[in-house]
Amino acid sequence: MLLLILLIFPSVINCIPPDPFQDIDFLNNPEVSRQLEKLPPVLSPDQLTNESRSLSKKLDKVPQYIIDNCPLVHMYSEERYWPSDINEFITHFRLEDKDGETVQFTDGHINLTTLEDLRPRYDASMINSSSSIIESKDLYMTANEEFATDPDWLVGHRPEYGTGLVKKGPALLLISDKGNGWVDAFWFYFYPFNWGPYIMGYGPWGNHIGDWEHSLVRFYMGEPKFLWMSAHSGGTAYQFEAIEKVRKLRRVDGKIENKIINRPLIFSARGTHANYASVGQHSHDVPFFFMPLSDFTDRGPLWDPVMNFFAYQLDGDNVRPMSEREENLGTSWLSFAGTWGDKQLLGTDPRQKWCPVQWRYIDGPTGPLFKHLDRTSLCPSFKSWNIWHGCPARHWIKKGEGLDAEKNDLVGDNCGVLLYNIRPRWLRGVMRFLMWRGTICFFMDYFTG
Ligand SMILES: *[C@@H]1O[C@H](CO)[C@@H](O)[C@H](O)[C@H]1NC(C)=O
Ligand SMILES: *[C@@H]1O[C@H](CO)[C@@H](O)[C@H](O)[C@H]1NC(C)=O
Ligand SMILES: *[C@@H]1O[C@H](CO)[C@@H](O)[C@H](O)[C@H]1NC(C)=O
Repeated sequence: MLLLILLIFPSVINCIPPDPFQDIDFLNNPEVSRQLEKLPPVLSPDQLTNESRSLSKKLDKVPQYIIDNCPLVHMYSEERYWPSDINEFITHFRLEDKDGETVQFTDGHINLTTLEDLRPRYDASMINSSSSIIESKDLYMTANEEFATDPDWLVGHRPEYGTGLVKKGPALLLISDKGNGWVDAFWFYFYPFNWGPYIMGYGPWGNHIGDWEHSLVRFYMGEPKFLWMSAHSGGTAYQFEAIEKVRKLRRVDGKIENKIINRPLIFSARGTHANYASVGQHSHDVPFFFMPLSDFTDRGPLWDPVMNFFAYQLDGDNVRPMSEREENLGTSWLSFAGTWGDKQLLGTDPRQKWCPVQWRYIDGPTGPLFKHLDRTSLCPSFKSWNIWHGCPARHWIKKGEGLDAEKNDLVGDNCGVLLYNIRPRWLRGVMRFLMWRGTICFFMDYFTG
């Protein structure tokens, strides 16, 4: 009986509300058409010329508009793995190759001591063989200590209440000139551990040591236009206006000014630190596949990356430290192409487990410079089904679901953004009809919840 109700219920509510978007025609919206028609193209760094540059080659400080529009991050209230400081993190690691052989530096040390130990390549020796040039892409940062018992360095540091400061967890800002007035501000968030999701109560799956997440605020002539946020292997792009804002006092050169500004707000999911624009339960970004995986966000401790961050300017392949603080760290660590955490544990390791879609412990991630920062699209990469490489910026917040959600909408909109963007509108109508008037979407939401 219950099953019958569940089966009928979604069809019923799907019959009542009309397509909430059918009265809105993006192309007739003056703001949108202005953006679509008049703004010049975004350029990749290799297309940039002296004439099309948006920024000076040597910025002497971070532009104030980047600080003013830096996203605040609400962590999950019951988060276990908080941001941490890469300087401290790496001291718990050595470098190993895929066979588990350890790299020994020319001066004999093995354990990583400073970020300068991270480089694009090494003139070093594997501990058991003769000296050679080792490419960092073949290496894995490998923990010296047991990590399955949650040592302090794996847990990180909770943002300070009130200020949002994480004293031992600097964010990383990378500024990239995209030409014709466009500037990309990439904010990177480092967490020492990614605690994977559960599938139908079993898990976690897809844990890894080291977790780099990021957001991108794209500016045109100093005005924020778009915000993209990472989630697993993908992410979501938004019109900047669509994003929720928080009133905050402005900070200029690190000092509070008596002026209130609106800062964008994103939400970091429990354990995985995938980023979303709303509170609640979010099924993973896989619109056409059945995958019962979900992330959870809520209004837990608020992290303000502006309180503590490293800043670099990217110029082609060149990485420029923006102040003495970054000069002391050097730039070589950004070019380290290996992973920031252990290689996937062997199947024979007692900590490792397998379920039909995923291992419990997988490879650590690569660093910030390996996230397609030269992108002109808002999306760094495209799923295999996305053969037309669409990356539309959403005009409405994709709402979370479930008990934590604040403005729950019953129809759900987790069928992906594809349906809304189908043109002409009659074709969208046909598609919607073919998907049982959206019932397929509802069912996907239902079972992934
Ligand atoms: C671009 O400007 C720099 C000086 O800022 C100059 O050295 C260089 O030759 C210019 N390149 C071209 C292609 O004009
Ligand atoms: C390296 O050599 C040491 C002894 O010198 C040995 O115990 C170890 O198993 C060797 N490691 C590899 C990966 O061959
Ligand atoms: C490397 O670090 C581990 C764990 O912290 C320690 O046991 C080991 O002695 C260190 N090795 C060296 C060569 O300093």
